[in-house]
Amino acid sequence: MCGIVGYVGSQVASDHPLDVVLEGLRRLEYRGYDSAGVALVSPDGRLSTAKKAGKLANLVEELDLRPLPESTAAIGHTRWATHGGPTDVNAHPHVAGKLAVIHNGIVENFASLKAGLVADGVEFVSETDTEVAAQLIARAYESTGDLTAAMTEVARSLHGTFTLLAVHEDAPGLVVGARHDSPLVVGIGQGENFLGSDVAAFISHTKEALELGQDQVVTITPDTVTVTGFDGLPAEARRYTVDWDAAAAEKGGFASFMDKEIHDQPHAVADTLLGRTDAHGRLVLDEVRIDESVLRSVDKIVVVACGTAAYAGHVAKYAIEHWCRIPVEVELAHEFRYRDPVVNERTLVVAVSQSGETMDTLMAVRHAREQGAKVLALVNTHGSTIPREADAVLYTHAGPEIAVASTKAFLAQITAAYLLGLYLAQLRGNKYADEVGEILIELRAMPDKIQQVLDRADRVRQTARSMVDTSSVLFLGRHVGFPVAMEGALKLKELAYIHAEGFAAGELKHGPIALIEEGQPVFVIVPSPRGRDSLHSKVVSNIQEIRARGARTLVIAEDGDTDVLPYADEVFYVPQSPTLLAPLLAVVPLQIFACELATAKGLDVDQPRNLAKSVTVE
Ligand code: AGP
Repeated sequence: MCGIVGYVGSQVASDHPLDVVLEGLRRLEYRGYDSAGVALVSPDGRLSTAKKAGKLANLVEELDLRPLPESTAAIGHTRWATHGGPTDVNAHPHVAGKLAVIHNGIVENFASLKAGLVADGVEFVSETDTEVAAQLIARAYESTGDLTAAMTEVARSLHGTFTLLAVHEDAPGLVVGARHDSPLVVGIGQGENFLGSDVAAFISHTKEALELGQDQVVTITPDTVTVTGFDGLPAEARRYTVDWDAAAAEKGGFASFMDKEIHDQPHAVADTLLGRTDAHGRLVLDEVRIDESVLRSVDKIVVVACGTAAYAGHVAKYAIEHWCRIPVEVELAHEFRYRDPVVNERTLVVAVSQSGETMDTLMAVRHAREQGAKVLALVNTHGSTIPREADAVLYTHAGPEIAVASTKAFLAQITAAYLLGLYLAQLRGNKYADEVGEILIELRAMPDKIQQVLDRADRVRQTARSMVDTSSVLFLGRHVGFPVAMEGALKLKELAYIHAEGFAAGELKHGPIALIEEGQPVFVIVPSPRGRDSLHSKVVSNIQEIRARGARTLVIAEDGDTDVLPYADEVFYVPQSPTLLAPLLAVVPLQIFACELATAKGLDVDQPRNLAKSVTVE
């Protein structure tokens, strides 16, 4: 989620390494923008750093005021906060003695590692997991005297996802990096070499790149690039030539941030699950700082949100009510705020928001707290207003979502809501730890299943392009498929400017079926035939009814479901999954469809007309 840049070059220049790093951070700022920092090592071995909360411009202003000395090695970081708020102190790099470290990812076992260091008398200044890694590498360096060996030793001890870069005063012409699950690529220059979380970091200097594999360490000097494994032995990295231009590189080679973020969804779900179970696989949500006795006394949950976030709340309703046996109301924040809702100290209000700045949702939070309710924010953006005004926050870890139309944040919101539901069920005794553990195993399997849906995207795209002249599309779903239908309709409205409407499939015969005429496209999200089969057979009947009246039926169904074939013009299969988790899969073809159809119409899918990424007015 963060932007990382590393540089080492033979030219001693006051500005060149710093300029290279700052330019790289500018190109990576979309990956995270709540703080930024740099660390430089001068040829005579002096480490200097600068870091500031806020946008990169704040760091540049700081550097103008207090220039750093000449250097030949430099690292830079633009942050998307996960551990510790977006403050100067929590900004990267983190220094330990003569060494500076920057990091992208989440170190799951940082608490236990930190406890060991504190017991040894190490004092910490930040709340971050990164500072723990810096202290560990500094200590390893004291015994190895070699930065590569120190980095390798520490990388082997970390759990979670990480890309780390380090510089040390004793090694002025050197930058060392290590990766596990988080990305790291090498840019190969002449008399200079580069590191970056993606090629956007150095693409204006070189297109010759090395893609590092899992659990690899890279050591760059001005003339050498050495790749080793976590075992310390030489390792192979894939060399390639980047065929993107600089602008495309910021989108990771995707045509739009929207397309990129749709493909980021496996990581968004996996990262939201990270660090929330203990070594025994038990759910641990320490960050939900609401007293357990209060959570046990809750007799109603009200979800307040807008747009896509509200549809995530609707999915959460089915799961939380099933697991916790607590009534869950889902309210559009702008309606909740003004309808004199019944809310009191036994109500838990869950405010769902990607930006954490939606004014309608913020006003609902304030109203709920005035009525004595406890408020839990379920938010993606650290340091935003809604978490600050809530009693507690459960962050989604989707990373920055740049496209106005929400996709990966939606899946991360649903994932976090599942975690909240399981946490409450475990806390209130509705579920045993082993039952929760079984559901968590299924949840952890979802990123791979989402990837399988993405791998099948071509036929969805093909169908979308064939429908470029469509003027209206309907979406039907039942149970957890109903909010998916609503979200699918919203994506098509806001991206392709096509009239679209989502319905509960059971509502069809109560009016909407009058809309069905020859050729009317209708998406139908079909529940698993392996669940409560009455739902499945009812939805298959709905498909028959609309097909008999001329509808063009586009069906989202589970692998192996052949019952739908006689009535479907198109079937887009998704992997099998538990009914309550199915929205994480069923929505993906609808996102791809809307994005592709809008693209085929030549529309700007990242910044659709009339919309803004965060609606900060009521
Ligand atoms: C979703 O694609 C839209 N961009 C919009 O409905 C959005 O979900 C809504 O405005 C809520 O935004 P938030 O999650 O930042 O609060």
